[in-house]
Amino acid sequence: MSRTLLAIESSCDETSAAVVRDGEVASLIITSQPDHNAWGGVVPELASRAHLTSIAPVVRGAMTKAGIQFGDLEAVAVTTEPGLVGSLLVGLNAAKGIAVALGIPLIAVHHIEAHLLSVLIDNPGIEFPYLGLVVSGGHTLLYKVNGIGGYELIGATRDDAAGEAFDKGAKLLGLGYPGGPEVDRLAAEGNPKAHDFPRGTIRKGVNDFSFSGLKTSLRYFLRDNYPDGPPVGAALADICASYQEAIVDTLVTKATRVAESSGLKSIAVVGGVAVNSRLRTRMAEECGRRGLGYYTVRPIYSTDNAAMIGIVGWHKMIRGSFAPLTITARASMIRADRHGNIREGGKDAAATTNGTEDGR
Ligand code: KG4
Ligand code: ZN
Repeated sequence: MSRTLLAIESSCDETSAAVVRDGEVASLIITSQPDHNAWGGVVPELASRAHLTSIAPVVRGAMTKAGIQFGDLEAVAVTTEPGLVGSLLVGLNAAKGIAVALGIPLIAVHHIEAHLLSVLIDNPGIEFPYLGLVVSGGHTLLYKVNGIGGYELIGATRDDAAGEAFDKGAKLLGLGYPGGPEVDRLAAEGNPKAHDFPRGTIRKGVNDFSFSGLKTSLRYFLRDNYPDGPPVGAALADICASYQEAIVDTLVTKATRVAESSGLKSIAVVGGVAVNSRLRTRMAEECGRRGLGYYTVRPIYSTDNAAMIGIVGWHKMIRGSFAPLTITARASMIRADRHGNIREGGKDAAATTNGTEDGR
């Protein structure tokens, strides 16, 4: 008899549900929220309201697509951290309701663990240990992935995440939100060597990243060269390509160096920024040159989705690792300090009002 679970993800601005059957993704529904575009970033209050509207149809959609009934579910997995607390609570409360109504266990999933293991969906045979580079809108992290449940955090950004650098840069350039896909698209027509933007920290021996200086240098570049507003056409494409190159260069250089110095033979790049076409090309080239394996996942499993939550949920379910119904959501955030020491900060839902963008 097959074993089936439902997974829910609502940590930021995607409402998503998936069904995982016998360790494989049976269905996946993702609804994005276009309303944030006008604000140039995710508005927490709008996000939680939109989750409230979409959670029930998204869950029903995933069940229908997988061709199953609620009675077929053995457990329900849900993202509990990190993320926008108001958004997380919508998914968490839906999951709790389903678990109570059906008398099945609840599984709490850490969003970053889900990104790390998302690589298993498309590469079930991946060999441990590997270096996991998590590049999302809220985090830029390096993990030594020793096995399922065995993660050593060995690097983090000190300030902005790589996705944040794309989004904030795009905003300065007058592009929509999220900025990453727009910059990626425009950069394809531009010259990555047209302008020389700073490469953040690529200090040897220190596994931290820093992207806030890059964003600032773009701001000054635009102020000095385009005081009347960002350019369009070829000039815009050149800026996008050069700005993107600075982010990609930093990620590729640091990740390949850390993999080699840590004795790891392959790198898995996961999270929304892993979709970036230039990052994919450059990472494949550099890994090939250094004899490292390079793994990534299809775009649908790179940006936020419930399938990756379901994969972690599956492994927890077969180990019997369940969460109490009293569990709450947390807006935790992982950052390095200027010495490269990594801290995980954050508040749980009881201590946080809905209105922080922290911890995405
Ligand atoms: O993992 P994700 O969906 O959400 C978080 O957990 O944050 O990542 C979203 C981030 C956004 O910053 C978005 O701009 C970025 O991923 N992103 C991209 C691309 N597609 C999405 N960045 C660069 N190039 C892309 N093609
Ligand atoms: Zn994410």
